[in-house]
Amino acid sequence: MKASLGSLLAVASAVSAGGLPSLDAPACSVGKGTVQYNKSVPNQTDFPLTQVDVCYDDTSIHLTFTAFDETNYYFNESQTTNDPIWQYEVMEAFIYHGTNDPKTYLEFEVSPNNVTFQAWIYNPSKVRAASAPLDTSYLTQPLVDGMTAETTLCKEAKTWTSSATIPLGLFNVDIGEAKSTAWRMNFFRTVVSPDTFPDQFLGAWNPTNESNFHMTPFFGNVNFI
Ligand SMILES: *[C@@H]1O[C@H](CO)[C@@H](O)[C@H](O)[C@H]1NC(C)=O
Ligand SMILES: *[C@@H]1O[C@H](CO)[C@@H](O)[C@H](O)[C@H]1NC(C)=O
Ligand SMILES: *[C@@H]1O[C@H](CO)[C@@H](O)[C@H](O)[C@H]1NC(C)=O
Ligand SMILES: *[C@@H]1O[C@H](CO)[C@@H](O)[C@H](O)[C@H]1NC(C)=O
Ligand SMILES: *[C@@H]1O[C@H](CO)[C@@H](O)[C@H](O)[C@H]1NC(C)=O
Repeated sequence: MKASLGSLLAVASAVSAGGLPSLDAPACSVGKGTVQYNKSVPNQTDFPLTQVDVCYDDTSIHLTFTAFDETNYYFNESQTTNDPIWQYEVMEAFIYHGTNDPKTYLEFEVSPNNVTFQAWIYNPSKVRAASAPLDTSYLTQPLVDGMTAETTLCKEAKTWTSSATIPLGLFNVDIGEAKSTAWRMNFFRTVVSPDTFPDQFLGAWNPTNESNFHMTPFFGNVNFI
């Protein structure tokens, strides 16, 4: 009885008002918040298990993306920073400091060969409506800015892990001020191989209802505690 009540409460605390998933993430010195997802976009069929660990320190958000059951490790070796690496395999975070459905947010992606894509997206329709713009403003000096990735592939274990740092200053959060801030984020993974390219299998923390990640009403709630 006690155990089943406990698990009900745990499930309830992971879904906030409006049916959005929710994550509490602590300072990295204390621990991390973890989400796992295994549902495809848009049909919510089985998708390879994917994990994101989130914590913050004085200057940065730390994200560790882990792809399980990875078999393709598919990237284009001629692509580099801010190229369309999303045509191949990537893990991604869309990040906004605030609680409403955003029109502007950071898109961060990393590929299995450790190449990153980082840009501000302006999506005034909030859903990438065909009638509205979707504009992209690249961050051109990620290493100078403090946006870095560390990537480890383990083909035997079928895993791919990329740990990323994202400066809090991008979101006007001053040094040491991240505690108690509220965010909206969604996390994504693309699966594609040379045989299936360019058709991708898509997955998300909170799956959007179209084959389109740029739908901000689906961003989950992330609280830095
Ligand atoms: C998918 O995730 C759910 C919830 O985290 C879990 O109950 C289920 O066992 C997972 N399914 C697979 C196939 O991993
Ligand atoms: C999702 O399901 C619909 C209806 O069954 C189908 O037409 C569509 O092709 C599916 N989409 C994907 C990406 O699998
Ligand atoms: C990789 O990218 C280059 C440059 O965009 C393109 O010419 C090439 O066809 C791509 N290779 C594959 C295998 O998709
Ligand atoms: C990945 O890129 C980062 C810079 O973002 C670099 O510091 C790191 O050494 C690179 N290599 C690996 C294997 O992570
Ligand atoms: C998908 O979700 C958006 C945003 O909530 C909504 O406006 C739209 O009607 C939904 N589309 C479908 C096909 O359910």
